[in-house]
Amino acid sequence: MKNKIEELLNEIETFAAESSESVEEFRIKILSKKGKVTELFAEFKSVAPEMRKEVGEMLNELKNKAQEKVNALKEKFKYKEDGGKSSLDLTLPAELVAMGSRHPLSIVRNQIVDIFSRIGFTISDGPEIEDDWHNFTALNTPADHPARDMQDTFYLSENPDIVLRTQTSSVQVHVMENTKPPIRTISPGRVYRNEAISARAHCQFHQVEGLYIDKGVSFADLKQALLYFSKEMFGEETKIRLRPSFFPFTEISAEMDISCPFCKGNGCNICKGAGWVEILGCGLVDPAVLENCKIDSKIYSGFAFGMGIERITMLKYQVKDLRLFFENDMRFLKQFNAVI
Ligand code: DAH
Repeated sequence: MKNKIEELLNEIETFAAESSESVEEFRIKILSKKGKVTELFAEFKSVAPEMRKEVGEMLNELKNKAQEKVNALKEKFKYKEDGGKSSLDLTLPAELVAMGSRHPLSIVRNQIVDIFSRIGFTISDGPEIEDDWHNFTALNTPADHPARDMQDTFYLSENPDIVLRTQTSSVQVHVMENTKPPIRTISPGRVYRNEAISARAHCQFHQVEGLYIDKGVSFADLKQALLYFSKEMFGEETKIRLRPSFFPFTEISAEMDISCPFCKGNGCNICKGAGWVEILGCGLVDPAVLENCKIDSKIYSGFAFGMGIERITMLKYQVKDLRLFFENDMRFLKQFNAVI
C-alpha cells in the first residue's frame, strides 16, 4: 500500500500537461470517483490497524498534493488560453484609497495665511514656551499691569518667568527684535490660557497675529487690509465696523466686527439679532512697543491685529461647541474635506 502511494505521488509530481484538456484527463484519472486516489482510499479498509495512522497520513497528503497540482495546472492554462483576462482585468478602475481630510482649524488657518500672503505678508513663527518679556513686558504689559488679568496664564512653578504663551502677539516681539522694517508678517500658532473648558472657552486654542511696520503706516492702512481680509474670507458683500477698545500694545486700539455672514446684517440667532459679529482685535502699534524692540518710533509706525482661528472657523462652519475641535471625533472631522 505504501509503495502504491509513493508511486502515485511520483506520477503526480512528474506529470506535465500540454493543455487544459490534458489537465482535465489527469484530474479524472487521479481524483474522480473512479480515480487512482479514490481507489487507494477504498483499499485503506484492508490496512492493518497498526499501520492505519501512518498510511492514513500518507493518503491525505497524496490527495492534497494531487488537488494542488490540478489547481495549479488549471490556473496556468486558464491564464494562457484567455490571455490572462479572467484572472486579471487591467481595465477595471482602481479601488479608491480612503483619504483623510484636513482638520477644520487647519483649513481655516491655511485660508487666512493664503489671503494675507496675497498682499505680501510673510509667515513667522515663535516658541509656545515663552519668557515673560516676549509674552507681556515688551508688549507694554509690565508685571503690575492690570491688563495681565485679561489672560489667565499658565506659569512654570519653578520659574515664573517662563509661561505658555497666552497670545501670538509674542511673535511680534521676536520678529521686531530680529528684522529691520519694513515688516509685513502674520504668525499663526497655538496659545494657552488657564480657563475652564466649556463650549465657548478652552485652555488651548489658536490665533493669527498680523504685523505691519513701515514709514507712515496709518489706521487707514489697517482698515483697508482688514476689509480686504474680511471680504476674501466671508464674501464680497461683507462690511466691517471698528469699535474703540483697549489693548496694552496698541494705541489706538479697536475691535472689529463683520456684518453677520448668515443674515447679511439683518439679525439672526448667530449674531444674536445684532447683525454684526466680532472677529478680531487690532490697532496701531504703541510707540513704546516699537522702542522695546529697538525700532525708532519717530521714523516707523505700524499696525497689528490678532484673531482666534477657532472663532473664525466656528463662524464659517456654524460649529456651536469649541470642544469639538479637540476631541478627534471622526463623525465631526469627516465633514471637512477641503484639500488646501
Ligand atoms: N493678543 C490679543 C489677544 O489675545 C489679540 C490682539 C488684539 C492682537 C489687538 C493684536 C492687536 O495684535 O493689535 O486678545
